[in-house]
Amino acid sequence: MNFSEIPKTELHLHLEGAAPPDFIRRLAAEKGVGMDGVFDADGAYVWSDFVEFLRTYERACEVLKTPEDFGRLVSAVLKEQMVHGVIYTEMFLAPDFCGGGDLVAWKEYLAAMSEAAEASAVEVRFIPTCVRHFGPEQARVSARLSAETAGGLVTGFGMGGDESAHSAADFAYAFDMAREAGLGLTSHAGEVEGPSSVVETMDALKVSRIGHGVRSIEDPALVRRLADEGVVLEVCPGSNIALGIFTDYKAHPIAALRDAGVLLTVSTDDPPYFHTDMSAEYRGLHAALGWKRDDFDAINRAAMNAAFCDEDTKARMLARFNGA
Ligand code: HPA
Ligand code: ZN
Repeated sequence: MNFSEIPKTELHLHLEGAAPPDFIRRLAAEKGVGMDGVFDADGAYVWSDFVEFLRTYERACEVLKTPEDFGRLVSAVLKEQMVHGVIYTEMFLAPDFCGGGDLVAWKEYLAAMSEAAEASAVEVRFIPTCVRHFGPEQARVSARLSAETAGGLVTGFGMGGDESAHSAADFAYAFDMAREAGLGLTSHAGEVEGPSSVVETMDALKVSRIGHGVRSIEDPALVRRLADEGVVLEVCPGSNIALGIFTDYKAHPIAALRDAGVLLTVSTDDPPYFHTDMSAEYRGLHAALGWKRDDFDAINRAAMNAAFCDEDTKARMLARFNGA
C-alpha cells in the first residue's frame, strides 16, 4: 500500500508545532534570534517529556514574529501535508503568538495566514486555541479575538497546553463566548491526564470533539458516554507513543475505542517534534493493527463529518473517500 497516496483529513495539527526545524532555523538566522537548546546535533527539536516539549515549542515560537512569518509557516506546513495526501486540514494556532491580544494585529496575522491557505490545493480551516497554562484570563482574550473573526477560515475554537493547569470549568466563559459566535469547539483532555479530565471537559466546555481523549479507555462508563453522545476523539497515535503514554501502535487503545463505537479520527499533532507524519501514522496502523484502505476511508469520513466547515465543503470532501 502506498500510504502517502491515500487521501486524508487531518483535524488535529498545531500550526506552530508542525513547523519544520529547517524553517525555524532559517528564520532564526535571518532575524539573528538565538536558538540555543532548541535543536539537537541532528537538527531535531530537543525535549524529553511533555513539560519540556511545551517549553521547546514556545522557544521555537519566539522566532515567529510578523504576519509574513506566519503566512510563510502556513505555506511550509501545507506543502508538507500535500506530500502525505492531506486534502482537508484544520490547523490549531494560538492568537497569543499573533499580536499579543490586539484585534487589529490579529486580523493582520489572520489575513496573511488565510492568503497562504487559500493559495494551497489543500482545503484549510483555522481553529484558534487558547493555551491552558497561560490561564483563563488570556483564554478569554483568545476567545474574544476568535469570536470577532469567526467566519472565513476561522471556524472553531480550542484549547491546548498543559492539561494539569487549572480546571476545565475555569475556561467555560471563553468557550461560551466562542460557541455564541458559532464556532465549533474542541479541547485537549485525556492525553496526559486521566479520564476525569475528559468528563470535566465534556461537562464544563460542551465540546463536540476532544483532542486525544485516549485515556478515556481507563473508564468503561466514559467510553460508553463518548459513543452514546457521538463526541469525536482526535487521536494522534504517534504523538502518544513519542510522549510515552503508550509503548507502541499495538498497545495503543485506538482499536479498542473504535470497536466500542467511539467516533475517532487520526492526526499527527506536532509532526516534527514527534518524528511522525500522516503517511507514517497510516503505515503504523496498518503494520500493527492490519488497518486497510477501507478502515482509513471510514476514519476519514468520520473526520469529515466532525469537521468544522460548511455542508458544501463537507460533501465535496466526503466524495473523495471511498464508500461515501
Ligand atoms: N498537546 C498539548 N498542547 C499542545 C500540543 C500538544 O501536543 N502542541 C501544542 N500545544
Ligand atoms: Zn495537540
